Amino acid sequence: LFDLFNFIIRPPGVSSALCVRFSKHMGLMNCDFYAPTEVQFGTGLIASLPGLIRKLGGASVLLVGDEGIVKAGLMGRVSLVLAQAGIRTLEFTAIENDPSVQSVENGLAFARSHDCDLVVGLGGGSVIDSAKAIAMMLTHGGDIRSFFGLDKFTESGRPLIAIPTTAGTGSEVTMWSVLSDTENHAKVNMGSRLGFARYALLDPELSTSLPPHITAATGMDALTHAVESYVNKAANPFTQSVAERALSLIADNLRLAVMQGENLEARGNMLIASCLAGMSFNRIRLGLAHAFALPLGNRFGIPHGLVNAMMLPAVMRFNVPGNLHGYARIAELFGEPAAGRLRDRADSSVDAVVQLMKDIGLKQGLQDFGVEEQHFDAVVDEAMQSGNVPVNPRAPTRADMCELLQSSMRSMA
Ligand SMILES: [Fe+2]
Repeated sequence: LFDLFNFIIRPPGVSSALCVRFSKHMGLMNCDFYAPTEVQFGTGLIASLPGLIRKLGGASVLLVGDEGIVKAGLMGRVSLVLAQAGIRTLEFTAIENDPSVQSVENGLAFARSHDCDLVVGLGGGSVIDSAKAIAMMLTHGGDIRSFFGLDKFTESGRPLIAIPTTAGTGSEVTMWSVLSDTENHAKVNMGSRLGFARYALLDPELSTSLPPHITAATGMDALTHAVESYVNKAANPFTQSVAERALSLIADNLRLAVMQGENLEARGNMLIASCLAGMSFNRIRLGLAHAFALPLGNRFGIPHGLVNAMMLPAVMRFNVPGNLHGYARIAELFGEPAAGRLRDRADSSVDAVVQLMKDIGLKQGLQDFGVEEQHFDAVVDEAMQSGNVPVNPRAPTRADMCELLQSSMRSMA
């Protein structure tokens, strides 16, 4: 089989980075897998932060967090570790949920005024996405809007260390920042191969204070990443192998992480799962749930994880015929019987996800957030523009998209 592939491993000299590109023949498609962030997992990892900062040559650190991180005492803990190590640290915590372009610009101005040369992002996806954008813009002039989209940056940003405190977005290992462009009433993606964090520190102790409802919603974001990347048309053996592990970890641990917040094993497994799911979708995009997530999140202020949770069962049910084997495997990873007709096994993946949502208390539908039928056309217009639509395992019509919204008005859980 290896004769069929032409492997190139890069970048040279960075042993932790993995980039595999291969050409397939005989009808198999080309693909790549690029995961250059060094991931460290374990409890007490904050103690190693000063050493990593010195290794990266940082003399003045911008520590990015938000109000929740301050309240949870995590900002203070990290600041103290850095202060005790004699590292100059400037805190920037004015990051909101669904961060705006303006808050990134404010953080950037603050970092520039203090000559920060390294960024640490401590928090959930909003914080890490913002930290990523600030780190990139520190080495680029001009309007941040000119970098929206894919691969617009021309050089690396300042070194970034990402410390996730939620298990959801996988932002610590992806190249993407999702920002709210409030001036233009749009949510935008900004992604670059040059924009990965240098280190991702996954410490389960940092997520034990996360309340159950946020653990549930963020966990469903990770699950949606794993499901959508596993079955999409661009999936390849590298993305699928990490997605499979993410799926089984979420199936086995999300309930416990929600119901036993202090359970370090469940918290740790969920952090690993969201990180793997991030690696999986990073290059190949997602599917229809995420195509809807930006317009619905933007127009109705629905938290990202909840939008995905509300859309996922209907999207899965719609997609099953487009990838029977993929959905049957997902069902198996959720502990559904591996015997019987393929179609039935594939369908049971939806039941398994709905059961998980019931168990973790996610019972809201779109109507609970003010979505009405009169909004469907505008939402579908925007969703159809998403780069997540072409890779979805089943091509949707506008009528299909409206039906997906209709089916998600009330929870299936
Ligand atoms: Fe997501």
